[in-house]
Amino acid sequence: MNKIAILYGSSGGNTESVARQLQDLFEGQADLFNVQHVSLGEIAPYPYLILGTSTTGVGDLQDDWEGFLPSFATLDFIGKKAALFALGDSASYSGSFAESMKVIYDEIADKIVIVGQVPDEGYTYDESTAVIDGVWVGLPIDEDNEYDMTEQRLTAWVEELKKVFV
Ligand SMILES: Cc1cc2nc3c(=O)[nH]c(=O)nc-3n(C[C@H](O)[C@H](O)[C@H](O)COP(=O)(O)O)c2cc1C
Repeated sequence: MNKIAILYGSSGGNTESVARQLQDLFEGQADLFNVQHVSLGEIAPYPYLILGTSTTGVGDLQDDWEGFLPSFATLDFIGKKAALFALGDSASYSGSFAESMKVIYDEIADKIVIVGQVPDEGYTYDESTAVIDGVWVGLPIDEDNEYDMTEQRLTAWVEELKKVFV
């Protein structure tokens, strides 16, 4: 078993694709789980969690995450660290860009050490609850408009996570 578990919920495949790219960047050190199928027992042993969701509705959590989050939040998080990422569309949903990760953040932030926050530079949007004092609670990714930025954003993020997932 690796030490890093990447958990994703994806309705149209974009978040799954990004989760797979992240797994590749961790070069064999991360295991991948779709929250649609995962059980708490499978992820309980992992000290480092990467939680990815797409944004639906207006700033809402992806559907499978919606069902999984209440039980996920009952995990014993002592000694664990979590990083969040969210897919969003900063053009069509500029007023709720990538807000879904804030829903997960609000559920677990007082129970687990959150890492992988990202400065709000290089993103164009109007509003997002996922930004606190100019810093994203996790990594926003926009495959609809800025897919050409994704590889660079993921690579930089993974370099930071490798420093704190120790
Ligand atoms: C019905 C619907 C609602 C959406 N609402 C938001 C939103 O509020 N904020 C946002 O940033 N993106 C929103 N999006 C964009 C998706 O999050 C984005 O396309 C994402 O890449 C989809 O990822 P997935 O294929 O893994 O589900 C919405 C998309 C759809 C279809």
